[in-house]
Amino acid sequence: MPFTVGFIGCGGISARHLRGFGEHPDCRLVAVADVRRENAASRAAEFGVDHIYTDYRELLERHAPDIVSINTWTGTHAEITVAAARAGVKGILCEKPIARDLAEVDAMLAACDAAGTRLAVGHHARFEPRNVTARRLIAEGAIGRPLLLHNRTEGGLLNNSSHAIDRMRYLLGDVEAAWVLGNVARSTDRYERGEPCEDCCGAILAFRNGARAVLESDLPRADWDAPYQVYGAGGNLCFADALELLDAQGRRTLDLDPSPTQHQEFVAWLRGECEMRTDVHGNRHTVEIEMALYESARRGGAVQFPLEPGPSPLVQMIEEGRLVVTTPGRYDIRAKP
Ligand SMILES: NC(=O)c1ccc[n+]([C@@H]2O[C@H](COP(=O)([O-])OP(=O)(O)OC[C@H]3O[C@@H](n4cnc5c(N)ncnc54)[C@H](O)[C@@H]3O)[C@@H](O)[C@H]2O)c1
Repeated sequence: MPFTVGFIGCGGISARHLRGFGEHPDCRLVAVADVRRENAASRAAEFGVDHIYTDYRELLERHAPDIVSINTWTGTHAEITVAAARAGVKGILCEKPIARDLAEVDAMLAACDAAGTRLAVGHHARFEPRNVTARRLIAEGAIGRPLLLHNRTEGGLLNNSSHAIDRMRYLLGDVEAAWVLGNVARSTDRYERGEPCEDCCGAILAFRNGARAVLESDLPRADWDAPYQVYGAGGNLCFADALELLDAQGRRTLDLDPSPTQHQEFVAWLRGECEMRTDVHGNRHTVEIEMALYESARRGGAVQFPLEPGPSPLVQMIEEGRLVVTTPGRYDIRAKP
């Protein structure tokens, strides 16, 4: 029997998941929901889905889908995930950022675990052949001991930098962080898809295997640019258009390992055939690192793990008046007009 799939949120990223599940031979797309009927209707027409709803609860009640794909903004992920788990869906693939804070992640996991629902997050970089190959090579010792990762991103710590942090963890074999030190600025009234967002964040991450990472999130750009690299004691991996290895034998382009798509692995996971590399039980630590960076800014010092779960320290700092907006005028870096 194919898995029936329902989609909640029919904006930009939904096409990736409608296509991914739609192309899967074991899946059948049954319904889409969006508070904007025109968005639901447009995606339904594009992907040949028969049923359209403006209330996702109606989709859950009428179709009881096996799989739910959540593609709404971050602030709704927890509520929709909990409702879908209680409605008895077998698996939820929710877009990143999985939630706004650790309290929400824990509520989502608790509801899913209680209902026997599997929950994964859309960190698709874990399926990208360059990252898959680099992770294997690092584990095999191709660059010796991994020492340093350097990442520059734009678009908010929870938004695009969640991909960056999650990719660092993936490349390092999902080793946990020991401590982080970070700072944030928010002197403009900046939001990202409806949630408060810092202007910028600079961070050092110290992983338990001794590797360090530098994260430049929305920092002013340097007057030089370089491809993403992982530096090791015996060589570097360079993520240019291709994946390159630089070691004592010189520089060479590497053949890439094949990888399933996130939708293929998700369906196999629901069938009990494999683990899921974006299972939120593991991905929780990515959110924990993000929250620890905010907490580091709040405390003015390094933060060790584990971090006490709770609300977002960024929101706390805003509410406590510790991040003062000196350039008024609310704006959202992702909201569509
Ligand atoms: N993995 C990636 O690389 C990637 C890329 C882009 C976006 N995303 C993530 O995907 C999510 C959606 O981003 P987007 O760019 O597609 O946003 P979008 O604004 O294009 O689409 C969101 C859609 O959700 C609908 N919606 C809002 N609240 C709803 C509700 N309660 N019920 C049903 N529908 C609702 C909106 O009307 C809209 O059509 C975000 O969490 C974003 O961070 C991930």
